[in-house]
Amino acid sequence: MLNGKKVALYITGGIAVYKVVDLMRTLIKSGAQVRVAMTESATQFVSPLTFQVLSKHDVHTSIFLEKNPEQVDHIHFADWADLAIVAPLTANTLAKLANGIADNFVSSALLATTCPVFTIPAMNQHMYENPATQKNIEYLKNRQIYVMNPDEGFLAEGYSGKGRFPEQTRILDELQSFMRDRARYLPLKNKSVLITAGGTKERIDPVRYISNDSSGKMGHALAEAAYLNGADVTLVTSSSLPVSSNIKRISVESAAEMYESVSSRFDSSDILIMAAAVSDYSPETTSTKKMKKQDEMTLTFKKNKDILKEMGHRKKTNQCIVGFAAETDNINEYAKKKLIEKKADLIVANDIGKDDRGFNVDKNEVTFFSTQSEPQIIPLKEKIEIAKDVIDWIIKFIN
Ligand SMILES: Cc1cc2nc3c(=O)[nH]c(=O)nc-3n(C[C@H](O)[C@H](O)[C@H](O)COP(=O)(O)O)c2cc1C
Repeated sequence: MLNGKKVALYITGGIAVYKVVDLMRTLIKSGAQVRVAMTESATQFVSPLTFQVLSKHDVHTSIFLEKNPEQVDHIHFADWADLAIVAPLTANTLAKLANGIADNFVSSALLATTCPVFTIPAMNQHMYENPATQKNIEYLKNRQIYVMNPDEGFLAEGYSGKGRFPEQTRILDELQSFMRDRARYLPLKNKSVLITAGGTKERIDPVRYISNDSSGKMGHALAEAAYLNGADVTLVTSSSLPVSSNIKRISVESAAEMYESVSSRFDSSDILIMAAAVSDYSPETTSTKKMKKQDEMTLTFKKNKDILKEMGHRKKTNQCIVGFAAETDNINEYAKKKLIEKKADLIVANDIGKDDRGFNVDKNEVTFFSTQSEPQIIPLKEKIEIAKDVIDWIIKFIN
């Protein structure tokens, strides 16, 4: 979501400033370039040094420092950003923002900024409920500035109320949908995308199962990438990895459950991406009680339904299907065979025989096989980046 984005982080003087340290680290981890400006009051709560060290850049605290004679710092700061986040937003700076007051670095740069602005107010409940604050919030919302609702709960004043700085997961979810809504062109708008992720578990008894090394990282990255391109995303996953609340999550365990979830939704989906590692076999019988230790044990397996193949044969002309092939040898040959046999539009093949790519790691190197063109090698990179490439391929294909 934030990979490569230039984020101007404005910090104003509330008790929640310490929580912004962690928020900034998350923004940086997700690939954003972050620069910080703080009000004089904010510096009373956490030293600018903390933000300087973590962002690896100077922190702007005064409008008149003007270290670089070739630029006006607060205007340069405002112009540089793709996204402005104000966290926490005090009642005071909120009022300045609503009324066009520019009397310090933060309020001046915010007045000059033309990029999307996302704000996270946090304050005492009575300050928040004050009609002046509420009027200012309404005014900002009318100007397309995003104003989060604070959380309810225990306040620094020692009593419960509305005004707390929100939990980080809610901030990130709302930030994601805010960024998506601001995107000028959403190529997958009104498209319904069904994605599977993770390795299925085939139960032997209540405590034992057969599974594989798939972590679900690729499928979850695909879900986020499809969502950011405007799609309505349903993720059928056997992985415990988190996913943003903007994506409909269906948790499943076995191949049979995954089949049911996919099959019942496939006809109403425009795009199916089968990134899950679905077990080909499951035990013939599953014991309802834990099986006792024996000298020898023989398990017999039955073949599971081939979800990709069945959906491929059910596919209507306006639907697009992407499958994944994880192989240790003869990758090209198996991937081409899979493309034809499963009637898929694209097979994303990867070599799981190497330690630095494939299952359970953050990176992958894949080859795209399609009936449309020659195989296309996507060199080793983060799964999030591969997910974007897959979604871009789909966008070109459906257009
Ligand atoms: C201990 C303490 C905690 C404060 N917490 C908040 C707060 O959470 N939210 C808020 O709007 N103001 C809070 N204030 C008041 C602001 O710091 C004050 O209004 C200040 O002028 C804000 O300046 P700024 O908007 O330039 O950062 C707090 C003040 C103190 C002394």
